[in-house]
Amino acid sequence: MTEEQIAVIVLAAGMGTRMKSSLPKVMHPLAGRPMVSHLLDTVSALAPTTVVAVIGPEMSGVARAVAPHLTVVQADRLGTGHAVGQARRALEGFAGTVLVLYGDTPLITTDSLAAMLACRRAAPRPAVVVLGFRPADPGQYGRLVVDERGLKGIVEYKDATPTERDITLCNSGVMAVDGARLFGWIDRLSNDNAKGEYYLTDIVALARADGLACGFVEGREDELLGINSRVELAAAEAIVQDGLRRRAMEGGATLLDPATVYFSWDTRLGRDVVVGPNVVFGPGVTVGDGVEIRAFCHLDGAVVEKDAIIGPFARLRPGAAIGPSAHVGNFVEIKKAVVEEGAKVNHLTYLGDARVGAHANIGAGTITCNYDGFGKFVTDIGAGAFIGSNSALVAPVTVGAGAIVGAGSVVTKNVAAGALAVERSRQVEVAGWADRFRAQRQAETATGKKD
Ligand code: UD1
Ligand code: MG
Repeated sequence: MTEEQIAVIVLAAGMGTRMKSSLPKVMHPLAGRPMVSHLLDTVSALAPTTVVAVIGPEMSGVARAVAPHLTVVQADRLGTGHAVGQARRALEGFAGTVLVLYGDTPLITTDSLAAMLACRRAAPRPAVVVLGFRPADPGQYGRLVVDERGLKGIVEYKDATPTERDITLCNSGVMAVDGARLFGWIDRLSNDNAKGEYYLTDIVALARADGLACGFVEGREDELLGINSRVELAAAEAIVQDGLRRRAMEGGATLLDPATVYFSWDTRLGRDVVVGPNVVFGPGVTVGDGVEIRAFCHLDGAVVEKDAIIGPFARLRPGAAIGPSAHVGNFVEIKKAVVEEGAKVNHLTYLGDARVGAHANIGAGTITCNYDGFGKFVTDIGAGAFIGSNSALVAPVTVGAGAIVGAGSVVTKNVAAGALAVERSRQVEVAGWADRFRAQRQAETATGKKD
């Protein structure tokens, strides 16, 4: 028997009013990307034939985040059952299993989805499988009513009797449904209930009325956290970060104080990477084997190759490419610049739109002046060059291989390979001047001439 086909409906039409935001709820980021993208990533492991997101009007940003998957707009928010109904045309003729997920419950794991699909396949081949869980506080979640045949129904908290409210097994909202029957049941939903909504949850009772079995599997509370407020968003972020920290350590990185390191969903660390306390990874960072990232660094869109040392207190911005065994030290900011193998940029420097050749040394306080208020210009520093401290390199400018720039220079012209460039006034020395000055001032003070 071939594996049954899967289609996915993601419900994301909710306004998320409790977020108090102009951004649709499912666009709020977790570990640097929208929560809906986490969900899509999770379902992609099941190789679904179709994924369709149900979004609200004026949510083109969500549609872009969901693309190339389909989106349909639910103009009036008439309930979860009505929302699923909007996907009918997108799933025309689909007879496999439809997974219904909530865009604001993005931490669900592929394991739980796979367990639901396995339950659908096993005897008595339930027409609907619901993902239940037992939260510490069942609050206002819908309750799963179970009998000897399996899942009998789902009762919404507002409609539940006191006895039903005592049930601890709750509805996460996630369902796996027989796609050949789903929309028939949706047509039969009524909104005669406490909220006046078309509840998706009522399809369980309809399936049972049709003589079909329904089932449930239990998931963990930490993967079924629904995000409705900034407080819940922060709780979800903490869960995601914990997972990313664990992934980094399991992949062979040492985190000296894991709880203080923040990852992006796509951070890639090699083996034997050591990350100090209070390091933040923005999106798009790749770190090679044996790299040490010392305390208080912020990296974003950067590549660091093997055995390099970064920080403490370094800032790598998009386009920073740090070569093998290079050193980037304290209070150094690097943007769109290549620092080649073994080069050192150790203190108080800004490098933007630049190349630093292999084994070059950039002295403390060096600044590439890459911006004239209108455009950005490139600084190219050759291999083995030495830039003296407190130099300004006014781009576009080239310093040839092996050249030396004297400390304190403002370099506006290209420097040839192997040359010395110094741009500053000659030093003047007046013999004995300081001694004479001091003697005169002391004499004035002693005779009270000073006012
Ligand atoms: C729903 C379940 C409840 C479950 C809970 C879990 C129903 C009737 N109830 O309740 O059993 O315990 O989730 O969190 O399904 N949405 C739309 N269009 C709508 C209505 C909702 O897209 O017209 C989306 C929302 O954006 C959200 C999801 O569906 O992503 C759930 O809607 P919500 O209103 O939060 O349902 P609950 O009342 O929490
Ligand atoms: Mg909800």
